[in-house]
Amino acid sequence: MEHRIIVAGIGPGHPDYLLPEARRAIEEASCLVGGRRALSQYARQSGDQRRCPITRDIPGVLDFIGTALRDSDVVVMVSGDPGYYSLLDALRRRFPASSLHVIPGISSFQLAFARLSLPWHEAQLLSYHGRVPSTEALSYKKGKTLGMLTDHVHTSQSIAKDLLASGWPPQAFIAICARLSYEDEQVIRSTLAEAAQHPPVSSCVIIVQG
Ligand SMILES: C[S@@+](CC[C@H](N)C(=O)[O-])C[C@H]1O[C@@H](n2cnc3c(N)ncnc32)[C@H](O)[C@@H]1O
Repeated sequence: MEHRIIVAGIGPGHPDYLLPEARRAIEEASCLVGGRRALSQYARQSGDQRRCPITRDIPGVLDFIGTALRDSDVVVMVSGDPGYYSLLDALRRRFPASSLHVIPGISSFQLAFARLSLPWHEAQLLSYHGRVPSTEALSYKKGKTLGMLTDHVHTSQSIAKDLLASGWPPQAFIAICARLSYEDEQVIRSTLAEAAQHPPVSSCVIIVQG
């Protein structure tokens, strides 16, 4: 029997935001792959489950999955939705699409826009997570809405400075959404000028409106 890789989006973090299909796949997994935080949250306490943390050694993780597939399905947990900057890209490069089953998750973008009661059908979504968006993508246009993922290097402060340097007005609205779904969730509403001076917030979602 051909085994499958089940890529389960686990949403922004709190289990309330996990789809029942993903929860079921994770609970029943005989082999579970995920970030260390996700593994400590969802791995079974009993010792009958094979596990592999997702580390920087992505080829090593893919090798583990390839070997584990000989014996069973492998459930891979990724944050948010698998379709937006997750291990899914690397999995598609290594394994045939027919061996993948993707369970969507609630993206951190969705929750950030929801917290602001803001539709996102016209927003442009970018990632500063381990990359820098193009100058064109960051350029200012009146009425433009940008949603951005960030990391530890590209923070609310550095991104606000980038946007000001790209011609965004200092009074433009910025929302800095951190630890979404958790009890210590923070949504800071501010202006670009203020955010460029505030202490940096990292690994969050940033929404700006021109
Ligand atoms: C590798 S990307 C994964 C994005 C994910 N696939 C999604 O749909 O949300 C990780 C980034 O997502 C954002 N993120 C994920 N969970 C978050 C949360 N609970 N609160 C705020 N931002 C979050 C941060 O920008 C983080 O650096």
